[in-house]
Amino acid sequence: MNLGFFASHNGSNMQAVINACNNGILNANPVIVISNNGDAGAVERAKEEKVPYYVFNSKTHPSPDDLDNAMLHALLQHEVELIILAGYMKKIGEKILKHYKGRIINIHPALLPKYGGKGMYGSRVHDAVLKSGENETGVTIHIIDEEYDTGPIIAQTAISVVDDDTVESLSKRVLEREHSFLVETIGKVVSGEIDLEGLTPS
Ligand code: GRF
Repeated sequence: MNLGFFASHNGSNMQAVINACNNGILNANPVIVISNNGDAGAVERAKEEKVPYYVFNSKTHPSPDDLDNAMLHALLQHEVELIILAGYMKKIGEKILKHYKGRIINIHPALLPKYGGKGMYGSRVHDAVLKSGENETGVTIHIIDEEYDTGPIIAQTAISVVDDDTVESLSKRVLEREHSFLVETIGKVVSGEIDLEGLTPS
C-alpha cells in the first residue's frame, strides 16, 4: 500500500511508520510527504529518508482551490492509496476529501471525542486532561471528515494518568505509545483487518 504523509511539525509519528516500512514490519511504501511548513522536522526527515516531499501552503498557492488541486495532483502522481495525517495542522481541501474519502486517517493524542476539536492540539490536550483530573487518556486514530477530530474512530488505546504527571511527562508517554499504535493500526488497515470503507459513512 502506498502511503502519503501530511505533517506540519516534528514528524516523529511519520518516522515511526517509515521505519516500520523500511524494516518490513509494515507491508507498505512511504511515497510522499506533504507539509505546509518548509522548516518542519518532517521535511528534514523526508530528505533523510529520500521520500519525495512537497511544501504546499497559502504562500505557494494563495487560492485555496489551487492549493487543493496541487496537493491532489501530487498525491495522484505518486499513486497514494492511504493518507496519514501525522501532526498536520491544516484542514484538508474538498477535492482531496472527495477523492480520498475514507482513506485519510489522523492520529490524536487523547481519547476522542473528549479533548478534540479546533485548537486542541499539542500540550493543550494534555493540559486539559490533567486539569480535568482524568485518570486515563490515550491515543485515537480516526478517519478524517470535514471537521476537526470528528470522523469515525478506527482504533483507540488507553494510557493511565498517574498522580505526579505533568504536561511534559504525559506528552512523552502518549507520544511513545502513538508511535507503536500508529504502526499497529496501519498494519491492520494494510492487512484488511480494519475495513476503512466499511467504517466510512456514505
Ligand atoms: C502527535 O501528538 C499527534 O497525535 C498529533 O500531533 C503530534 C505530532 O507529533 N496529531 P509528531 O510530529 O509526529 O512528532
